[in-house]
Amino acid sequence: MSANESPAGRQPTATYDSPFMKACRREPVPHTPVWFMRQAGRSLPEYRKVRAGVPMLESCMRPELVTEITLQPVRRHGVDAAIYFSDIVVPLKAIGLDLDIKPGVGPVVEEPIRTRADLARLRDLTPEDVSYVTEAIGLLTRELGPTPLIGFAGAPFTLASYLVEGGPSRTYENAKAMMYGDPELWADLLDRLADITAAFLKVQIEAGASAVQLFDSWVGALAPADYRRSVMPASVKVFEAVAGYGVPRIHFGVGTGELLKLMGDAGADVVGVDWRVPLDEAARRVGPGKALQGNLDPTVLFASTEVVETRTREVLDAAAGLEGHVFNLGHGVMPSIDPDALTRLVEYVHTQTAR
Ligand code: CP3
Repeated sequence: MSANESPAGRQPTATYDSPFMKACRREPVPHTPVWFMRQAGRSLPEYRKVRAGVPMLESCMRPELVTEITLQPVRRHGVDAAIYFSDIVVPLKAIGLDLDIKPGVGPVVEEPIRTRADLARLRDLTPEDVSYVTEAIGLLTRELGPTPLIGFAGAPFTLASYLVEGGPSRTYENAKAMMYGDPELWADLLDRLADITAAFLKVQIEAGASAVQLFDSWVGALAPADYRRSVMPASVKVFEAVAGYGVPRIHFGVGTGELLKLMGDAGADVVGVDWRVPLDEAARRVGPGKALQGNLDPTVLFASTEVVETRTREVLDAAAGLEGHVFNLGHGVMPSIDPDALTRLVEYVHTQTAR
């Protein structure tokens, strides 16, 4: 270990000792760290400018563009962490699936995965498939200084929901029909996706990501018993695959009030909470030994500054007894939000929690 390397390996000591990393490890912090899911994106005019004319998936494969977009919210808002600019379907595209991200819609898969024969299309992901990720993270960690970079991936269930449905869905009827009706095929599908997801996270950590977040955005559609039986084993496999790196692992989903305990048990160090469950109650559900991340309702940002501050204060009060707290929204930044409201929110959380 060289002088400027941390106990966790690749990152500089200043990154390892940053408020975000400390909060994830449940250590004392100088102030509550803040970042926002979807902080890079259409809410920022500078994002819309550099993305003009470049399709979403193509932009994820250009290291200089990825670097610029990832840095934009750090420069503008002074957030405590960057999140790598990409999308959950990037590794699936990288192994050759015919899919696209349609503006205003989301990921669309040309030929959905519905049968055992379809599984053959899900080959393993190698680092060479996503060499642009390694390159971009190399550029980024040089630019970021002490600010940690969060890598991420879609969790097996949320990826499967797009692959089986063929696109966004409100009911997940095809995915759930497979889960209930052909549990062996479903288990094999999720297992394949777990391997791909784990490989994608490893690439990001090896390249220099300081933490990783597993987005199981749509898993709140499941009852706890079905989560435990049909989804949790695959997510456990992902978390176990990266456990040896010692980087914080965050686990997030929407509408997961009834799943918080299981999502923590799946192997996360930090459990992400949407706005439906107050953080003190979430901590009771999750149990000891985990930090929490969240959980201001993103739509609160459409209200006045005074209302934003009152609601933020409530989140901070509910978080007062937590072992570790990373402030975030309960889900992603909405494209139509005024970015100045986000800058003010970062400042407010920092001053309110300065110790
Ligand atoms: O700043 C960040 O958080 C990093 C970037 C990021 C994107 N996608 C960029 C993006 C992250 C973390 C994601 C993850 C992602 N992608 C999730 C999980 C997070 C969540 O919100 O629950 C999901 C479910 C997806 C799938 C997806 N990709 C959707 C639903 C959409 C929106 C479609 C639309 O146009 O409204 C996308 C496209 C996408 N991914 C955009 C961005 C900035 C918007 C497209 C664009 O800017 O052209």
